[in-house]
Amino acid sequence: MSKPLIAGNWKMNTNSHSSISLAKSIAAGCSESAGQSADVAVFPPFVYLGSVVQVLRSTGISVGAQDLYTEQKGAFTGEISASMLKDTSCVYVLCGHSERRHIIGESDRLVNAKVTAAINGGLLPILCVGEKLQQRQCDKTGEVVNTQLAEGLADLSAEKISGVTIAYEPVWAIGTGLTATPAQAQEVHFLIRQELSKKVGKQSAQQIRILYGGSAKPDNAADLMAEQDIDGLLVGGASLKADDFLRIIKASI
Ligand code: PGA
Repeated sequence: MSKPLIAGNWKMNTNSHSSISLAKSIAAGCSESAGQSADVAVFPPFVYLGSVVQVLRSTGISVGAQDLYTEQKGAFTGEISASMLKDTSCVYVLCGHSERRHIIGESDRLVNAKVTAAINGGLLPILCVGEKLQQRQCDKTGEVVNTQLAEGLADLSAEKISGVTIAYEPVWAIGTGLTATPAQAQEVHFLIRQELSKKVGKQSAQQIRILYGGSAKPDNAADLMAEQDIDGLLVGGASLKADDFLRIIKASI
């Protein structure tokens, strides 16, 4: 298995000053050994990407974007393309985060176009999937996740799929303080791994990182990471406090 990935999704938080100081604190606290044992990435808002990239240059910590648009350039007011993100030294990009699916209204089809644009633009997409509480209560978790996975990865070759990271983020656990138990998360991660095996073969599917997201914190990170199919964490709220994020990284390696 490749190194775990610990990713901090800052969402629509920070400002020009605090984004820099947060990045500096993370860089200062991220020991070389932590950096060698795990890949670490932060996802600031678009407008602070450039300055955070400057701060994190040659620290080994990567920078990613929270979203992108499907087209390369042109008359798409307000949108940001893969090539712009690449030009800003972004490495990763989130695609289909549940807040974009459920607040902004992104469809699986649009998410698929974004994953495709990210790969074609040389970025590493993190495809986010996850069920709502009601869907879990109706035993629809597997069905929802499989559909999001199948449609999100539609028409992509096995080779391209092998470069995608998946993030399982149960919607009911995001920002709520409710975390899926390690066993609940593992059950879905296993299912995702099985679906990926059908697409890329068992061996390649083992190499695809499947992150867990949803109220990941310093005190639950180690237990989540101990599960066989959990290969990293996508951290929201707790990534805004350098100490918490650093403790999560430490607990994960
Ligand atoms: P949370 O967010 O850690 O605040 O629950 C996770 C995410 O949305 O990526």
